[in-house]
Amino acid sequence: MLKRISALVLAGLTAMSVASCGSGGSGASGGSGTGSGSGSDAITMGFSQVGAESGWRTANTKSVQDSAKNAGITLKFSDAQQKQENQIKAIRSYIQQKVDIIAFSPVVESGWDTVLKEAQNAKIPVILTDRAVDSKDTTLYKTFLGSDFIEEGKKAGQWLVEEYKDTKDTVNIVELQGTTGSAPANDRKAGFAEVIGADAKFKVVASQTGDFTRAKGKEVMEAFLKSTPDIDVLYAHNDDMGLGAIEAIEGAGKVPGKDIKIITVDAVKDGMQALADGKINFIVECSPLLGPQLMDLAKKVVKGEQVPARVVTEETTFTQEQAKQVLSTRQY
Ligand code: AHR
Repeated sequence: MLKRISALVLAGLTAMSVASCGSGGSGASGGSGTGSGSGSDAITMGFSQVGAESGWRTANTKSVQDSAKNAGITLKFSDAQQKQENQIKAIRSYIQQKVDIIAFSPVVESGWDTVLKEAQNAKIPVILTDRAVDSKDTTLYKTFLGSDFIEEGKKAGQWLVEEYKDTKDTVNIVELQGTTGSAPANDRKAGFAEVIGADAKFKVVASQTGDFTRAKGKEVMEAFLKSTPDIDVLYAHNDDMGLGAIEAIEGAGKVPGKDIKIITVDAVKDGMQALADGKINFIVECSPLLGPQLMDLAKKVVKGEQVPARVVTEETTFTQEQAKQVLSTRQY
């Protein structure tokens, strides 16, 4: 239903179609893999995942593994446990194993040029999925498939501006940022700041990383509640941190969604449940269902076909009423 991942094609190239796709495997750095690809055009993909930090990530891993299976692509999968050095090791191992294509979701934006150059020298194409890198040399990867995180931050800010349009009072906001240095943390912060920056009544009074996890979201919110009086709004860069923060807010004897309004990003099932229950006020969707498009792009790249430089995931937003309507059919 909400799997409306359509591709916006940049650089004047044709729109992407969603392919159904091979076999998934899992393993530690370097990637143990299983697969069903066979014959001369069989494809082996090495995939380095960020980790298992959130409900979003779990759904994304499942989407990639299921889609590889359906596409007949042999997947070598590794979980980097939110560490860049683990991702670099995994990519080097995929290069040594001479996979046909490497895909990865970079935990942080910077520091990829050397290993991407190694893949390029070995003539192994790379696809970025979910998160971007800040490399100046865009020939180091074939395409980037994922959300527009700046736009997500802007949508969060736009809801807030509308919600407080009738007040002149100061609105004190605390922000739970995603993993430091990651594209979603940088961009969701920037997009939000750009929108609320137009009105001086909006003040971000505290902003700290919660590493995209529920446990850290709770811990940091507890600290905010102790150090920062009069919090009106929490902006959490993902549902999981927001859900952890809700526990902290309730623990402090306050009512989430009322005493403190909450905006999050992702729209995973637990987040949508909290939205429907009135504990979260607004969620900006970030779809993790990137697997089918990733496999489609991989097939084209391996065949030497041209693909768009950027494929943007199409997403929506949810109010409490909308969450109640779609909750029972939510896929993840
Ligand atoms: O890169 C996507 C982000 O990573 C998701 O919003 C968050 O939940 C995840 O950990």
